[in-house]
Amino acid sequence: MRISLVLAVFTASSALAFPWMTPEGMEALMKHPEAQKEIKRRLEEHVGAQSGTVAPRDPQLGTGLIPGLIDLIGGTLKAVVDPIFGLIPTEDAVRGHKRFPEPEYPFRPPGSTDQRGPCPGLNTLANHGYIPRSGIATVGQIVAGCQAVFNMGADLGNLLASGGAIDGGDILSTKMSIGGPDPRVGILNGALNALLGTPTGIAGHGKFNEGDASATRLDFYLNNGDNIVFQPELFKQMHQAALLKGDGTYSAEAIKYHFKNRYEASRAANKQFYFNLPSAGVVMGAYYFIPGFFSNGTLGANGIANEASITSFYGAKPKDTSPNAWKNPNLEYTHVPERIPEQGWYRRTTPMTVAEAVGGILDVYLYAKPAIGGAGADQGFVAGPALIPNNPQALSCFFYNAIYANFPSELFNTVALVSSVVNFLSSSLVPGYKALGCKVDFPQASGIGSTYRETYEKWALQYTGEAKTKAVGSGWYKKP
Ligand code: HEM
Ligand SMILES: *[C@@H]1O[C@H](CO)[C@@H](O)[C@H](O)[C@H]1NC(C)=O
Repeated sequence: MRISLVLAVFTASSALAFPWMTPEGMEALMKHPEAQKEIKRRLEEHVGAQSGTVAPRDPQLGTGLIPGLIDLIGGTLKAVVDPIFGLIPTEDAVRGHKRFPEPEYPFRPPGSTDQRGPCPGLNTLANHGYIPRSGIATVGQIVAGCQAVFNMGADLGNLLASGGAIDGGDILSTKMSIGGPDPRVGILNGALNALLGTPTGIAGHGKFNEGDASATRLDFYLNNGDNIVFQPELFKQMHQAALLKGDGTYSAEAIKYHFKNRYEASRAANKQFYFNLPSAGVVMGAYYFIPGFFSNGTLGANGIANEASITSFYGAKPKDTSPNAWKNPNLEYTHVPERIPEQGWYRRTTPMTVAEAVGGILDVYLYAKPAIGGAGADQGFVAGPALIPNNPQALSCFFYNAIYANFPSELFNTVALVSSVVNFLSSSLVPGYKALGCKVDFPQASGIGSTYRETYEKWALQYTGEAKTKAVGSGWYKKP
């Protein structure tokens, strides 16, 4: 009862704010079993936590009076519900310190058919069962897991996980593999395979998620298509950056320095180098995630990503385990499954929103000033978008548009596919868009055919540049 009222108010206000968004899209989100479970859990947690400290507000809700409810939505309850829908969490949404690991989620190494991939965060969640241990998970499961262990805001979780589902998963079941391709996942039962190929998993290269110049994974084209496996040599370089720039900690300064080196090395070595929006944003964002999520406590509030924390989450096992070995820049590592530090670790106390993540991306970007784009067929550099905003708010909006712009324009020849994709994106990404006050200027999705496709292509050029179709490393590269 309480929950359905909350949903009713949300549905109404969101529909008004997004006239172009179909009611079906919003409804799909509201009906999402994982979302509902999470909403219920949070409401219960919230009501429980409030007893004794704040005047009980339940009676108002119980009467079902809409004015009372709106009052609540404008206040504390809003803060609780916000992160679920990806609206910006307020101070009230902070849930304080929480220590991990939790006994209900024991570490277990993955089995032979379990998928693991380029993301140490998701691998850790799967190894502890916060998302299915198989490594095949829905958007809702990933968002809930990232929130539970890392305090990732649902706006950010939805953005990343929806991107994963679009490029490498199945947008109807919202399932994806957190590693490579897997027969347990199929995009629209195969209907999109001709355009997108067999679902690649989140490790799919050059589309939304996976990109070149990663912190500890090699470039797709530099390693025979292996962009998943942890590279001890790259981790060693990151460790050296930590010693040189972070007093031995994996601070923002240290990882920015590591990124600059990685970008230069990749670009020089990789003839199919691809570093374009939106995937370049994901790569730079992932660098910020190292101190942003793996710190013991909150980054910026005494939380530090030290050797113990980083090696555990990355599954980097030092060959020398004597107490001061970490001070040696030539320390070598091997790989073991990713794990929450056994000695204990505190998750950040404030949710990381899209706005914070984009601020982090901007910090990484402005430090290294990497050219955005990719290598062309003639080995020239094909540019990405011409104008990239340099403030987090505008860049966040730009990033959302780049995700829409990153669709294959071929999709617009098929009515059913366009509406599926647009509905899916509308329901998963729009709340974040709204929270940031972005102007939604994605071309109307109701038109089909060549006129619409041309309008779309012109619009998309603005956000992905020519690199999307003309750089050889792009997932959308077309031979002239
Ligand atoms: C919504 C969920 C998430 C998705 C879909 C996702 C996806 C990805 C992908 C595709 C990459 C490869 C990017 C590249 O090419 O460099 C990546 C890398 C990375 N992710 Fe995630 N991620 C998610 C959540 C997280 C979380 C919660 C954390 C931290 C707690 C995290 C930390 C990282 C880090 C540090 C890397 C860089 C790996 C490297 O060393 O190369 N991610 N992630
Ligand atoms: C995190 O901090 C706590 C409290 O200071 C400490 O007990 C624990 O060992 C630290 N964990 C790591 C991985 O550094």
